[in-house]
Amino acid sequence: MLAALPLVAGIAFAQETKQDVTGMEQQRNIEQGAFGTLPDGSEVALYTLTNAQGARLSVTPYGGIIVALEVPDAEGEFEDVVLGFDRLEGYLSETYRQANPYFGALIGRYGNRIAGGKFSLDGKVHTLPTNDGDNHLHGGDRGFDRRLWKAETVEDERGVGLILTLTSPDGDQGYPGELQARVRYTLSDDNAVIVDYEATSDATTPVNLTQHSYFNLDGVTGERADGDDILDHRLTINADAFTPVDEGLIPTGELRSVAQTPFDFRKPTAIGERIEADNTQLARGKGYDHNFVLDRDGLDENELVTAARLEAEHSGRVMEVLTTEPGLQFYSGNFLDGSLTGKGGTTYGHRFGLALETQHFPDSPNQPDFPSTLLQPGETYQSQTRYVFSTNSTTGESETTSN
Ligand code: BGC
Repeated sequence: MLAALPLVAGIAFAQETKQDVTGMEQQRNIEQGAFGTLPDGSEVALYTLTNAQGARLSVTPYGGIIVALEVPDAEGEFEDVVLGFDRLEGYLSETYRQANPYFGALIGRYGNRIAGGKFSLDGKVHTLPTNDGDNHLHGGDRGFDRRLWKAETVEDERGVGLILTLTSPDGDQGYPGELQARVRYTLSDDNAVIVDYEATSDATTPVNLTQHSYFNLDGVTGERADGDDILDHRLTINADAFTPVDEGLIPTGELRSVAQTPFDFRKPTAIGERIEADNTQLARGKGYDHNFVLDRDGLDENELVTAARLEAEHSGRVMEVLTTEPGLQFYSGNFLDGSLTGKGGTTYGHRFGLALETQHFPDSPNQPDFPSTLLQPGETYQSQTRYVFSTNSTTGESETTSN
């Protein structure tokens, strides 16, 4: 087993600190390199985890951001399937901050929106920054996506991993209680990225952590990448209902059946098939930007459900999303507009990537009928999501395994 690599602030990391963590599995590897420097002078590392299949996951402790994820296609070709930047500077640029797509980031304390940036607890109103029109989004102006987490590498029977920890002080972005957050990323040898979330607090507070990677399973840097989008990806979502929203994308409180609507993804359907349909909900989201109510019938809250399956037309890559969470925000990258140029010079045009954010429902602190997001002192918030990569037996263009 590999001893934890200490994260030493203030010194430049050796660009290629390679460590063999193996024995039998020669390819398992953890590499630590320099990713960039924050305005306050803090050096930020990039960890690249390689599993026994040669799949690679790169994560920076800044924002807990998944920077790259290389998985094989149906012919064994590895390609990066997540949006992001080659260097830290990309995530710090003014253009990026204005667009604010949260590429690959850990989101906290509250993934998704809280109406009016307000909620009350025991009769006290808590006010949060409103960074999305009148509403609070993804933890505020300086959410967990903009914090430098502490990092420690790990290698065990589950795979190669990185453990990130963060202390969020009492009153951070308006939230009560000091929150200790811990997220473990694991890349298993069967090509799953496993995200384990944990948090404790010394006062009652809402918590809803999630991961905000944008996927394009046909690859984000190859020849086809520029100008491509995810509209031909086929998506299945295990949900009979979704939470319709108002103009500000706040749930109305209704759980609406997906039947006979463009939100019915119970069978594999190309994302582009109905995205331009004449539908008020699609108009409000400018495409898909909605929380789906996962079918968890018969499952305990700590059991995984298969939430979604995404299949890419050209490469045959498949991603399944499993989670302990009750909801899934499907966001079809509607606000990407070509103003950002990412890894390898690829322009991120309209709907070039999509996010599948496992979560509790948006605005739960103001919606008494939604599953509660309140964490009490003495309790531990625990959540797990797995992104499992495989391929259809032949490339998607000629055949798919389902339908
Ligand atoms: C939200 C979108 C938002 C995107 C980037 C998604 O989780 O649902 O409305 O534009 O994050 O901030």
